[in-house]
Amino acid sequence: MASTTERSPRTRPPDPGRDADGAPAIALEHVAKTYRTGRRAVTAVRSLDLAVTPGEYFALLGPSGCGKTTTLRLIAGFEEPTAGTVRLAGRDVTGVPPNRRDVNTVFQNYALFPHMTVADNVAFGLRRRRVPTAEIRRRVGDILDLVELTGAADRRPARLSGGQQQRVALARALVNRPGALLLDEPLGALDPVLRHTMRAELKRVQREVGVTFVHVTHDQGEALAMADRLAVMADGELRQTGAPAEVYERPADRFVAGFVGAANLLTGTVRAAADADGYALVGLDGGPQVRAATTAAPGTRVDLTVRPEKIRISAVEPDTAADRLRGTVRDTVYQGPVTQYTVVVAGTGGATELVVHRQNAGVPAAGTERTEPGSPARGDEVWLAWPPRHAHVLGRP
Ligand SMILES: Nc1ncnc2c1ncn2[C@@H]1O[C@H](COP(=O)(O)OP(=O)(O)OP(=O)(O)O)[C@@H](O)[C@H]1O
Ligand SMILES: [Mg+2]
Repeated sequence: MASTTERSPRTRPPDPGRDADGAPAIALEHVAKTYRTGRRAVTAVRSLDLAVTPGEYFALLGPSGCGKTTTLRLIAGFEEPTAGTVRLAGRDVTGVPPNRRDVNTVFQNYALFPHMTVADNVAFGLRRRRVPTAEIRRRVGDILDLVELTGAADRRPARLSGGQQQRVALARALVNRPGALLLDEPLGALDPVLRHTMRAELKRVQREVGVTFVHVTHDQGEALAMADRLAVMADGELRQTGAPAEVYERPADRFVAGFVGAANLLTGTVRAAADADGYALVGLDGGPQVRAATTAAPGTRVDLTVRPEKIRISAVEPDTAADRLRGTVRDTVYQGPVTQYTVVVAGTGGATELVVHRQNAGVPAAGTERTEPGSPARGDEVWLAWPPRHAHVLGRP
């Protein structure tokens, strides 16, 4: 708090987002937020610990109402935490108003000024800070170049497509070179095709400017595709933080496993402790046994997941060292790149179903659901197989 007055836009470090001491660009320490309206209290954020590295593309992923927007507003200073500390580049900014924090926010609705041209929208903040006119012109030109909107400088936002408006909002938020940029569902207003195109665009812009981005989304595909690291949030808490592949392949708990991609959740009991390769034998509820890496002792209850694309499905018994189960196809759904099979595992009394994704390398013959000769169809008896490294025990030991 004591250091807040020495800060002005002109004294910010030459390399935005980076801090000489190697401090995180953004750090939340035991941050909590309870909203009070009259006698009602809603706890939106319970206790958040988070450190975003300078220059990182960080995604905050979670379902509606889990506290994502609140977290961004706490970082930006539009809300103050009920408890805990917010740091930007190592400096405690708790209690510092938004306009004195070195971050900008892109809101979901972009909040562009409709009566101003694109260039004036982008220049707005610089004019307010009385940046010299020649410099404004240069910086607005550079940033419009970066977001590929040079030709639209004199148009008004209402005449632009959703994707173009998104770029204006991005340009306006980046033009004063903030230490970090916070984006709340930045692609939420776009149609699915444009959403995909803009993923690559946003990534490119972030790489070129090197500014720390925090991107809030409830779209797991978006978070996996865009983030250097992501945090999965539920009920005002972070459940897991890590690189996309880490979170997808090694989910921490049932919630993360189910929210980040499709997951088969299985429950069983350890029957034999880990062998020399680290694999214990787990008896699934209802009968079949599979291997999974865990140090849990025999008798321990474990939850495990196997991702649908790791499972091979075949009509004949596979000739591999993989774990295998028998089952019956209950349903098939053609999804374009893959077909999704729902298979009832034999010996579980119908209690255990596994979802399997199989790539559609072939083309279904007209009027059939078989994507190639011999591919499974409803009612078929099949084998399911996966190498034991793909059976991931949740909440490991
Ligand atoms: N200003 C407020 N006053 C009272 N309660 C609030 C306020 N803002 C948010 N909340 C509540 O806090 C919780 C978290 O809201 P928040 O907007 O942070 O969620 P979110 O993850 O951004 O959700 P969404 O994906 O729907 O945008 C919700 O229960 C919400 O109703
Ligand atoms: Mg929100």
